[in-house]
Amino acid sequence: MTETDLRTLGGSAGPGGGADGTSDMVVIENAVKHFLLPRRAFRRTRDHVHSVDGVSLRIGAGEVLGLVGESGSGKSTLARVLLHLAPADAGRVVVDGMDVRKLRGAESKRLRRTAQLVFQDPHAAMDPRMTIGESLSAVLAQHRMGTAEERRKKVEDGLREVGLDESYVDRYPAECSGGQLQRVVIARALLLGPKLLVCDEPTSALDASVQAKVLNLLSRLRREHHLTMLMISHDLRVVRLISDRVAVMYLGQVVEIADRDQLFDAATHPYTLALLDAATPKRPGSEPTVAARGEPPSPIHPPEGCRFRTRCPLATERCRTQMPPLQAVAPGHEVRCHRWDEARAALVGEGGLVGEGES
Ligand SMILES: Nc1ncnc2c1ncn2[C@@H]1O[C@H](COP(=O)(O)OP(=O)(O)OP(=O)(O)O)[C@@H](O)[C@H]1O
Ligand SMILES: [Mg+2]
Repeated sequence: MTETDLRTLGGSAGPGGGADGTSDMVVIENAVKHFLLPRRAFRRTRDHVHSVDGVSLRIGAGEVLGLVGESGSGKSTLARVLLHLAPADAGRVVVDGMDVRKLRGAESKRLRRTAQLVFQDPHAAMDPRMTIGESLSAVLAQHRMGTAEERRKKVEDGLREVGLDESYVDRYPAECSGGQLQRVVIARALLLGPKLLVCDEPTSALDASVQAKVLNLLSRLRREHHLTMLMISHDLRVVRLISDRVAVMYLGQVVEIADRDQLFDAATHPYTLALLDAATPKRPGSEPTVAARGEPPSPIHPPEGCRFRTRCPLATERCRTQMPPLQAVAPGHEVRCHRWDEARAALVGEGGLVGEGES
């Protein structure tokens, strides 16, 4: 396939993915979520935060999609859009065949059963006044599942599955460590038999040894329950361990998406290269290979043209005026950059990036 063929392919590898699109658990097309800020003194208009700005992606059934990006890039907002916790302003969001922006009543309940969220702070996720058994049984009761006795048994089985014995049923959240409580949260998320698990920084609040155990647990549960997962993390190692494909977000947009190995070994967006470079251990005193300059711009007034151009070492006049499309550069690999075909050669030094450099 020539470069021109690849360029003109742009978008055709977008949402819907497979030939018939039916094997996708998640399809997001041009999703937009802007938050309106309170009116400021002496100002007529109100500012909008461009948290998610035209995101399209799909997650195949049984697939784990990793989502990375700096703080404030819109990862959690995209997760909330997907679960209809922060309804999208525009675009299409489909989960297991349900168009989530059109769901009402009983259908919303089906979305709650199909898709579950595990987030960073397990203590914030649990009601401190209820025992773990009461909290988990309440989820089943809300969905009118089983008798009190059957619910208790299901809760015990669920806890055992995440490596916790039945004594946890009568404990309060304050009587558990962060790692134990994150297991409880995962058990709770699985109680209703979901197909999709959205994990938003599920291990960031845990120390390194516990992180690995929770990630292993998620990997095992994913296999045993045939789960589809969106794994959000700012830690590239976490995403590399668990994901089949990886999407990179910058200022509300997906700027690169590819199979995991392709992304880690052959990334071409200058921002992805900078993220990978920053995560690569360096010899003491050596200069970074790829530098993203300065801080991300405000999502209230994102730059015209390419959003990354204010920090990109390769930016040209074209980048200042024209927003690059997300275009296919290889099968399954899409990049939002005018200079994708030169970026890697221009920015990657001999030391290589994550996984290739010295460790
Ligand atoms: N309810 C809200 N009202 C106003 N702005 C919001 C709201 N929620 C999120 N934002 C803004 O949207 C942008 C994206 O936030 P988001 O939490 O999605 O980022 P993130 O990528 O998850 O960051 P982090 O890695 O720190 O969790 C930020 O600028 C944030 O301040
Ligand atoms: Mg977040």
